[in-house]
Amino acid sequence: MAATQPRVCILGFGSIGVLLASHLQQNAQVTVIPLLRSEKRLEDLIAHRKTANVKSLFLDQQPIRETIFDAATCPELIPNDWKIDNLIITTKTYQTKDALKPYMKYLHPRTNIMLVQNGLGVFEVLNEEIFVEWKPNLFQGVISHGIFNTGGFSFSHAGFGNLKVARLPSQDPGSIVQSNQLISSDRSGNELIRIMNDSNFAAGLDVQHLTYQEMLLGQLEKLIVNCCMNSVTSIVDCINGELRDIGAPIFDAIISESLTVLQTAYKPLFDYKPSSRDFPSLDVLGVLDRKRLLAFVLNIGCVVNGSNSTSMRQDVVNLRDTEIEYINGYIVRLCDKLALGRESCKTNETIETLVKLRLGLNRYRDEHGDKRVKH
Ligand SMILES: NC(=O)c1ccc[n+]([C@@H]2O[C@H](COP(=O)([O-])OP(=O)(O)OC[C@H]3O[C@@H](n4cnc5c(N)ncnc54)[C@H](OP(=O)(O)O)[C@@H]3O)[C@@H](O)[C@H]2O)c1
Repeated sequence: MAATQPRVCILGFGSIGVLLASHLQQNAQVTVIPLLRSEKRLEDLIAHRKTANVKSLFLDQQPIRETIFDAATCPELIPNDWKIDNLIITTKTYQTKDALKPYMKYLHPRTNIMLVQNGLGVFEVLNEEIFVEWKPNLFQGVISHGIFNTGGFSFSHAGFGNLKVARLPSQDPGSIVQSNQLISSDRSGNELIRIMNDSNFAAGLDVQHLTYQEMLLGQLEKLIVNCCMNSVTSIVDCINGELRDIGAPIFDAIISESLTVLQTAYKPLFDYKPSSRDFPSLDVLGVLDRKRLLAFVLNIGCVVNGSNSTSMRQDVVNLRDTEIEYINGYIVRLCDKLALGRESCKTNETIETLVKLRLGLNRYRDEHGDKRVKH
């Protein structure tokens, strides 16, 4: 009898969810199960013949990857004795808790859950508020691919990046150090990590399976870019490149304050020195250096992606909630948690408040009209 394929559930069947789901369904030996929020959303997918399309804007002739998701389901249709062994969460950060609720009864201590989201803070929510009595295997994915919805279940994959994945230290959140030995034992022994390392799938999205400290360094660098670019472009309502010659003073203020807080919160990472060849070398102080980060934000944010509009600005323009609480707001939450005092995060706190103000103002104008006198 043929062995059954592993099942991978995708919670958050939007841009990133569909990108991962279609690559998994086509390139790995798995059955992908999109978990839609309601029967209504499932009917929408059925009306599209259960098919999602991803068009590659960066490849010659822009090929379209069409994938049928026969196993898609929603909370109302799942049998009571179901079990979820592998779950990838690709909702927006602030949607995670509500989205997980109907699926909690299907999870168990050996379930693998991987978060593929921007920002930080969801791990803490899961570890400290949701999985208190028992813990599943938690993993984090940091993705730099760029993809957006073009209507229905069609998406444009605009930028090829990579996907860095690592096991989160859920049993001991203070310990950031993992050995190469742990990486290899997960690679052979953990089903979800084995799937992520499947050569076809890994090549299709440039998946890199790393120790937690390696992934965390990349995650903090990305957090700082987002703390600068996403929020400032949202507040002043501009395209990235418009900040190239004028963004440095506010970026420097955000970077220096964020670094001071992160140095306290992630002291073991800043102090990290590999104790043997079983641990990777990392240039933590080089990557998280204030001057280097400023140059990096100006180059990656304002030059390389100069014609882009950040996802947060798109959310604010389209009157959608933002992920600000998991970006600049994460620095503020860290300050509170570590009792550093709000003085230590006044720049990020103000930036968070201004993003919320901008969204509130856009919603007000949408409802009441733009009251500014036009000259
Ligand atoms: N898109 C990118 O290029 C990109 C790049 C890097 C990182 N990221 C990060 O990846 C994460 C996901 O972003 P995204 O662009 O993929 O967002 P998205 O397109 O808005 O997708 C989120 C999906 O989650 C679903 N969802 C929300 N609440 C749910 C619930 N209660 N039950 C089931 N499904 C629910 C939404 O379903 P409905 O359609 O029913 O609302 C939507 O399909 C974010 O943290 C983002 O910052 C995105």
